[in-house]
Amino acid sequence: MEIRHYPVMHKEVLEYLTIPQGKACMIDCTTGEGGHTSLFLSNYPDLSIIGLDRDKEIQKKAIERLSAFAPRFTPVLSWFDEYLASAETESADAVLFDLGISMFHYAESGRGFSFKSDEKLDMRLNTDGGMSAADVVNGYSEEALADVIYRYGEERYSRRIARAIADRRKEKQFELSSDLADVIAASVPGQYRHGRIHPATRTFQALRIEVNGELDRIKPALGEAERVLRPGGRIAVITFHSLEDRIVKWFFKDEEREGRVRILTKKPIVPSDEEIAENAPSRSAKLRVVEKVL
Ligand SMILES: C[S@@+](CC[C@H](N)C(=O)[O-])C[C@H]1O[C@@H](n2cnc3c(N)ncnc32)[C@H](O)[C@@H]1O
Repeated sequence: MEIRHYPVMHKEVLEYLTIPQGKACMIDCTTGEGGHTSLFLSNYPDLSIIGLDRDKEIQKKAIERLSAFAPRFTPVLSWFDEYLASAETESADAVLFDLGISMFHYAESGRGFSFKSDEKLDMRLNTDGGMSAADVVNGYSEEALADVIYRYGEERYSRRIARAIADRRKEKQFELSSDLADVIAASVPGQYRHGRIHPATRTFQALRIEVNGELDRIKPALGEAERVLRPGGRIAVITFHSLEDRIVKWFFKDEEREGRVRILTKKPIVPSDEEIAENAPSRSAKLRVVEKVL
């Protein structure tokens, strides 16, 4: 089994997400391939981890990788907001969120997350139900599509891209990620087409967020995580773009003002130059940590 994902800021997460002595319980809300979970289980022999993920394929990889820790690792196939809403109050000592998707999704899932691939436009984490990226691209009105691309991709050419998609699908519906990427690239000005990032990057991010309801799940999950945490316990959140980070930052600020948490990272922690050199995708990561007030 190939492990593709490098656990981002793992030293910093281990330092800030402190675990009490003796028997303790942590919830890893985004287990992925189990990188962070494996580090915590190795470092704390009395720690048990409930590992959530809504993707059953990546969960299989985590179960295999963490088999040596089996009695201390409990995998749960669930969206994190839904699991946390049903979890017992003050039952966990630490909660970790490492938001977004994993290298596995781009490189191996075959679900069209990458504009570089020739895969079916799916992008669902939960492949058992719900709408796919193809449903969004082929079924949303041009206006709704432009709104999604603007809101979740912060794409300045959202209207032009939505128009090009709407024109093209009159002739032929979109099926493959590469097909969509080509139509996007042809719809934007030349300078943008040859810019720093591929012109489809932001639209692909927007579609993934829309398909999985990613942003809508964060705030409710943080509220529930706070309830589920024991007083003195900590929540650590790693975000990868400003839309996610804004939600986390303001939620924690409001909770601190209400006297429910103490913010331990006045400024977010970012990866070291060494980490960025080793793992370029980590460059946009930010870590924020709070402690539940006693
Ligand atoms: C960035 S990866 C986590 C990587 C992991 N920390 C590691 O070191 O291997 C995020 C994972 O969370 C899952 N995920 C994203 N949003 C989720 C949600 N709302 N509920 C449950 N799982 C989610 C994705 O399927 C993905 O496997």
